[in-house]
Parts: sequence; C-alpha cells; structure tokens
Amino acid sequence: MPTNEKWDVYLKEYAAPQGRAPAFRTETMGCQMNERDSETIAGLLEEMGYVPAASRQEAAVIVVNTCSVREIADPRVFGILGQIKKVKEAHPALVTAVCGCMMQQQHVVDAVKSKYPWVDIIFGTHNIHMLPELLRNVVLEKHKATDVWDDGGEIVEGLPARRTFAFKAYINVMYGCDNYCSYCIVPYTRGRERSRATGEILREARALADSGAKEVMLLGQNVNSYRGAEDAQTAGFVDFPALLYRLAAVPGLERIRFMTSHPKDLSDRLIAAFRDCKKLCKVIHLPVQSGSSRTLARMNRRYTKEHYIALIEKLRDASPGIAVTTDIITGFPGETGADFEETLDLAEKIRFDSAFTFLYSARKGTPAAQFGDQVPEEEKHRRFNLLVERLNGITAEKNNAYLGRTERVLAEGRGKTGRDTLAGRTDSGKLVNFIGPLSLTGQMVDVRITGAKTFSLYGEIAARP
Ligand code: 5AD
Ligand code: SF4
Repeated sequence: MPTNEKWDVYLKEYAAPQGRAPAFRTETMGCQMNERDSETIAGLLEEMGYVPAASRQEAAVIVVNTCSVREIADPRVFGILGQIKKVKEAHPALVTAVCGCMMQQQHVVDAVKSKYPWVDIIFGTHNIHMLPELLRNVVLEKHKATDVWDDGGEIVEGLPARRTFAFKAYINVMYGCDNYCSYCIVPYTRGRERSRATGEILREARALADSGAKEVMLLGQNVNSYRGAEDAQTAGFVDFPALLYRLAAVPGLERIRFMTSHPKDLSDRLIAAFRDCKKLCKVIHLPVQSGSSRTLARMNRRYTKEHYIALIEKLRDASPGIAVTTDIITGFPGETGADFEETLDLAEKIRFDSAFTFLYSARKGTPAAQFGDQVPEEEKHRRFNLLVERLNGITAEKNNAYLGRTERVLAEGRGKTGRDTLAGRTDSGKLVNFIGPLSLTGQMVDVRITGAKTFSLYGEIAARP
C-alpha cells in the first residue's frame, strides 16, 4: 500500500476509538526564528491531519524546538525530555521529536541518542520540511530517525504555517549568518546566509495582510546583507531598504518591524528609511555586544565604539525619538575592568531604551571557546549585575519620558496586570497596559500614557479605532 494510503488508514484507525484526530504539541525555546519555525512545524503537522493538543497527555506527537544561543546545552531541554519520558510510559504510542539549533551540534545529538533513547526523531534547522516523512516512518514503520543536514542549500518555499496571531506575523527574509562573531554558534547551527526571493516575501506579506495582519516583523540574523532575487526566475537583486519600501506598499499592513541589524554594515539608506518610510516602526535593535573597541575586535565584530556611537547619532538625526535596543555580553574572554568601564560608559552615552544582557558562555566549536583568558565566573556576574542595574535605570528614565504622551498601540490581547487590562505595543516597541475590552484585540488604539515602570507603560484609552 502506498504511504499516503497507509497514512489515511492510520488516521482513521486512530480516530475510531479516540473520537478525534491525533494531536500535536510544539514546545519552543529561544528566539523569534525558532518561534517562526515552530509555526511551520505546526502547519506541516496540521496538513498531515493532526490537531493541536491541549496538553502533553493528549498529544500523539510532541516536537521540542531547542535553542543554543544562550546555553551550551540548555538544561530545560533535558528537563522537558525527562518529563516526556513519564508521559510516554503512560502513552507508549507517543512520538517524541527534538529539533532546532541544539540539534545542529553533533555532540548534542550524540548525548540525546545515548541518554534519552525514548526520543524517536531528531532533525535540524535545515530540514524542517522533512518532518512529515520522518514522522510517517516512525508511526507506520516504527523506524526511529536522525536526520540533520549540515547546511541549508536552497530555501524551501511554500511550507504551510499555523500562525500564532492573526493581526501580527513573523516573516523570514533571510536565513543563516556569515559573520562568525568569535563567541557565536549561529553560523554553525543556522548555516550560511541565504536570502528569500523578494517575490516570495511579498506574496507572503500580501496573504498575511489579506487575512488581517496589520504588523509584520521581518526576521534575519543580519538583514543588512539581504539580497533578494526579484523572483525565482529573474536576475535583478533587491536590497533590504528596497524590500522595506515594497512591503510598505502592501495594502492593509500598517507596521513593519525587523530584527536584527549588524552595526558594521547598517547602511545610510536603511537609516534614511526610518525617516522616509512611514510604516517602518521607529525602533532599531542594534546589538553592540561591548563598549570596548579592543573587545569588539576580539569578538570579530568589525566596528569600534566610536563607529557605533556615530551610527546612533545618524539614526537619531534621521528619526528623532527612535528607540534603540541592544544586546551586551559581559565577561567575554580577556575583558578587563577597563574594558567593562567602556561598556558602562557606552550605556551612559547611548541611553538604550532597553538591553538584553548576557553572561559570556563558551560555545564548543567557536574561536572564543579556545581563548585562554576566560573571566572568572564571580567577576562575570559582578559586572553583569552592575551593568543590568545601570541599564534598568536608564530604561526607566526613557519610559518616564512617555508620561503624558498619546501613543498609537496595537492591542495584542489580555495583559498580565489585571482582569480588564489589554496589553499592546507602541510603534517604538514599548509594552503598554491599559483597561479595555477584549474586542479591541488586533486594533490600533490611541492610548494616553499615565504611568511608567522599568519594563512597561500604563495608560488610558484616548481614542478608539
Ligand atoms: N555567550 C553569551 N551571549 C551570547 N550571545 C550569543 N552567543 C553568546 C555566548 N556564547 C548573545 C549575543 C547575541 C544574543 C542573541 O545572544 O549578545 O546578540
Ligand atoms: Fe552570531 Fe554575530 Fe551572526 Fe549575530 S552577527 S548571529 S552574533 S555570528
């Protein structure tokens, strides 16, 4: 019997006693790229006939999507696999799959295979589209599968997606990274840089807008390197600023955001787009990593503290009030007390709207893991705490400046601060809580800001749509 028919038989046989189709669950760690990948995984599973599961106990398949940027081997993943073992003891037919960045590292795959033998499928970031085939093999033929591709090759277009929200969506514009910052695992786990064809991105954006999306977040490790073919057939190339203007012309889309941009090649044209492209949200996430030019050189970042400061000045000239957010690592190998002071000084000079702070942690296979002069843990933490305290103070001051203003907010649903509150984001990406009916979810609402905390703003509806 052909596989398709066998699969239909499986679905029918499953549904008969259960009274419903087999259910799936995705559990996602890490960044927006992983969240977007999980939407594709969910879309593929739905296409196979699965329905979303309300709990692990209900699931016929669980897919754990892992991250390796923040932890060498994220202990949460192993905790989850331990819990899934118990679920599987009660439901032996449960299929467990593990994917994502951690699985692009051979030593992690080896560890999962030897210590977690109840895992049925291991796949990587480059072969998500293979999941249906791997899953059919496990369910129908009881073949466990490990299938991780070393590199991405051609981008696979046209995969389905189960979108988390109707009114806002992620769109991948490029995959991978060629920058090889000396601490970072991404070039090894996400592969070489590949841009999606502009036509494909526009098609996706139009379809999203048609189904109610007002805001899109464009995803890429370094969007400045975007170089998209007009469409799969033609030769001309479109760069990132040009892509932004084309997306701005898509009817229905009101806001365009993007992540992430690398300071070494943030172009004047992209800076000008913050002035000229009305739909481009006035916020930039520009990871600086360190304020010391010496450390930046050892990180292989290819810019200096002065260059970064000059970029922010240009951005603020082009778009006064633009929010600037960043990532900073403390305790990079060889970072001296003086280097750290430079980072504190940079934070004072730039006054970031918010910053993600990371304790340096060595990634196997990256150059910095081999550097001899690792900073002692205690000192790393001391610097981290000092920096976070200062950055939080600045964030609170920045938020205070919003008091009394009326901001346009895209309401995203119930907030966490009370039964009647809605949460949403300003154009500049600030989280705002305000009292309002759930029916405003997905609408642009004018909110007068009446309160400011370190991580959020409070307000009252000034005008409804
Ligand atoms: N150690 C600590 N932080 C890291 N990041 C990436 N790799 C490491 C590492 N090995 C941080 C960087 C990056 C963010 C996503 O994660 O700041 O911008
Ligand atoms: Fe990692 Fe650097 Fe690429 Fe960012 S630019 S993903 S930090 S290698």
